[in-house]
Amino acid sequence: MRILITGGAGFVGTHLALNFKAADAATKIVAFDNLKRRGSEINLAKFKSAGIEFVHGDIRQPSDLEDLSGNFDLMIEASAEPSVLAGLNGSPQYVLQTNLTGTLNCLEFARRRAPQVIFLSTSRVYSIAPLRRLKLRETDTRFELLPNQEIAGISQDGIAENFPTNSPRSLYGATKLASEMILQEYVESYGVRAVVNRCGVLAGPGQFGKTDQGVFTLWVARHYFNHPLTYTGFGGSGKQVRDLLHPRDLFELIVKQFERLDDCSGEVFNVGGGNGVSTSLLELTDLCRQATGNRVEINSVASSTKVDIPFYISDCAFASQRFGWRPNLTTTEIVTEIADWIKQNENQLKAVFT
Ligand SMILES: NC(=O)c1ccc[n+]([C@@H]2O[C@H](COP(=O)([O-])OP(=O)(O)OC[C@H]3O[C@@H](n4cnc5c(N)ncnc54)[C@H](O)[C@@H]3O)[C@@H](O)[C@H]2O)c1
Repeated sequence: MRILITGGAGFVGTHLALNFKAADAATKIVAFDNLKRRGSEINLAKFKSAGIEFVHGDIRQPSDLEDLSGNFDLMIEASAEPSVLAGLNGSPQYVLQTNLTGTLNCLEFARRRAPQVIFLSTSRVYSIAPLRRLKLRETDTRFELLPNQEIAGISQDGIAENFPTNSPRSLYGATKLASEMILQEYVESYGVRAVVNRCGVLAGPGQFGKTDQGVFTLWVARHYFNHPLTYTGFGGSGKQVRDLLHPRDLFELIVKQFERLDDCSGEVFNVGGGNGVSTSLLELTDLCRQATGNRVEINSVASSTKVDIPFYISDCAFASQRFGWRPNLTTTEIVTEIADWIKQNENQLKAVFT
């Protein structure tokens, strides 16, 4: 079997590549990446020892994809400019050209040479205004959903696939939503078999977290290296909530989806840790103190940016029902794995995180 992973040297791409290889050493895996994300180059050594081929290329250039040799049984589209802030304070060119034009280049490649696709989309396709209108109550440590919400697609289990997407969602979210729609047309028009996974926050070792993306890993790292942090937005109390998912759990789902692509092609799934694997920043601070033994200064900024949302938990009932899938790793296990990774690679990671 031959698998192409675009964005293959990124956080998620690397986990998927290593997991597929570990599951079957005979699988040929090509990790294709332009190494735009700082830290991705660190993963290349892992590919070498695992027997994974790395190709330096850019999905914005169709010819870079064309130059790949042979056909593939599966393409996992995991390349992106993954920051919700992308383009907000400058040109939108990179996020548009990678997340939209680049993904379309990947689909066009798939039509001819890799007609089975798993596309990593995002929970950020959901519109910001209704997410900011959710009725929440504030406990000592987090925001929680109140019963009787007035918007479609929201229940005590979180946000489902029919939550509104029809008003602004950030450039990042909009490029992913547009790509999802074109992907469905490729399924309909050309017989490409593909699914869309709208991922909530993914977190785990190997993520080179920044304030605008990968914040959970950054939180652990800043504790480890004794650097200050800031609770930003929604009063600055750190009570905003997200679910989180370890890429190993995502891998388990992708394996099941690949086995059954014939009956789920064109479908869209919310994928995340759900209610059971969620945390507020405030609660995360406590876990980071336990995992690292350090307490760091945490500042507070009350105001939010226009793309901030106070609460997101994925309702994954559809994926669970379709594939009998549920996440296994808990918030504490994910934080512990991140802390262990940083400890084991302290010298290399210090420059990335501080
Ligand atoms: N990490 C999360 O919390 C999260 C949540 C929801 C969705 N996703 C999606 O999952 C996918 C993987 O995210 P990640 O966390 O691994 O991000 P990442 O930044 O670690 O990985 C993305 C990779 O894509 C590469 N890349 C960027 N532009 C490229 C281009 N033009 N051509 C080729 N490669 C390019 C980067 O160098 C990087 O290695 C993305 O599509 C992202 O939108 C991630």
